[in-house]
Amino acid sequence: MKLSIVILAAGLGKRMYSDLPKVLHKLADKPLIRHVVDTALTLQPDSIHIVYGHKGEQVREALHDIDIDWVEQAEQLGTGHAVAQALPHIADDAMVLVLCGDVPLINPNLLQMLCTSPEPHSLGVVTVELDNPYGYGRIVRNAQGKVVRIVEEKEADASIQSIKEINAGIFLIPAANLRSWLGSLNNNNAQGEYYLTDVVDLAVQENQPIYTTTTDNIYEVMGINDRIQLAKLERYYQTQQVQNLMLAGATVRDPARLDIRGTVQTGRDVSIDINVILEGDIILGNRVKIGSNTVIRNAKIADNVEILSNCVIEDVVIGAGCKIGPFARLRPEARLAEDVHIGNFVEIKKSTVAQGSKINHLSYIGDSEIGSKVNIGAGTITCNYDGANKHKTIIGDRAFIGSDTQLVAPVTVAEGATIGAGSTITQDTPPETLTFSRVPQKTIDGWQRPTKKKI
Ligand code: UD1
Ligand code: CA
Repeated sequence: MKLSIVILAAGLGKRMYSDLPKVLHKLADKPLIRHVVDTALTLQPDSIHIVYGHKGEQVREALHDIDIDWVEQAEQLGTGHAVAQALPHIADDAMVLVLCGDVPLINPNLLQMLCTSPEPHSLGVVTVELDNPYGYGRIVRNAQGKVVRIVEEKEADASIQSIKEINAGIFLIPAANLRSWLGSLNNNNAQGEYYLTDVVDLAVQENQPIYTTTTDNIYEVMGINDRIQLAKLERYYQTQQVQNLMLAGATVRDPARLDIRGTVQTGRDVSIDINVILEGDIILGNRVKIGSNTVIRNAKIADNVEILSNCVIEDVVIGAGCKIGPFARLRPEARLAEDVHIGNFVEIKKSTVAQGSKINHLSYIGDSEIGSKVNIGAGTITCNYDGANKHKTIIGDRAFIGSDTQLVAPVTVAEGATIGAGSTITQDTPPETLTFSRVPQKTIDGWQRPTKKKI
């Protein structure tokens, strides 16, 4: 059977008090709606339809890389009206799965269960028992336990308000049924809206079987309406992510003080200290150590690498046995081979550093190729930018760069060359030689320091 997924995302999100559409607010650095779409994709549907409205262009832009049928709901007249906008794009023989763009952590297994239920497929709905069901539509069952209605909070009397089983907002309905039921909805209710939930009534009138699937994990069906709920769900999600990392072999000093905003693959016996943020796609080799207060985004880090405290690392490849930090900054396209040492207040950008080289203190290395076993002294700067263009610095194997050297690119220091401290190098230097540029030192005997003038 064909599966079409409709994701509702046209609501205003009033309670966010935001210029950004609600579904673009981020959970673990990923827009809410992208979480939903990624989950939808795991079901391999025949089509995905997103109903958009409020600031829809931004929503479309945020998902431009995914093949989606965009359906505009110009006026937000209710969830039933929203689904109706997508129906003309869906074949009669398809099953329609309705999801909400503001329920980001819906579990793919739960949806799979709903979609593969052996019960007759006329109307399936996900329900959950909540201690505090306030605000949700309540599931009303008859004496035989059969679902007969969903009643919204605004229409609920005291006895209905006491029902703890709620509608998670996720439905599975054959397109043909949905088409006929949506056509008979009305908006005679407290909010003057066409409620999708009223299709339950219509199914019951036609004696169509209704089946329910449930979960005991409330976070899977929690909708985001305000920033407090967003923060709660972020915490829950982080706890899950960090637990998965620990189960895969990483020691985390304090699970509450590690945030994972992306995917992390960990080797064995990795250890991560407190206040670390891991973003994007990260691969950690065996026995990698990450010190406190470090931020790493998109990195491939090989075995036995030690990253000390307070480093900021982005888009890099770090070879086995490297030692980084404390207070180092590795910027995009830094490529370090094995056993490289990068010390405090060193910035590396778009440069390769070959095996065993050391840049231990206060240096800027940009647009460079550095050979193996090179020693770069404190305060070395590759002057890579002439105000208009970037130029390359090449340093051969075993070169030794004295402290406080400026290498004015484009320039090559050949292998085995030594540069004397305090040099400004503007021309290529030959291999196995000493080069320095230095103002001769002078001493003036009997020189007196100036004193303050008396008026
Ligand atoms: C809805 C359900 C409620 C359920 C709850 C679960 C209805 C009438 N009520 O209530 O039973 O317990 O979800 O979270 O369905 N939307 C549109 N167009 C509209 C209106 C809404 O696209 O015209 C979208 C919203 O962007 C949102 C979703 O539909 O993604 C749900 O709408 P919302 O207004 O949040 O419904 P609730 O009051 O939460
Ligand atoms: Ca909602």
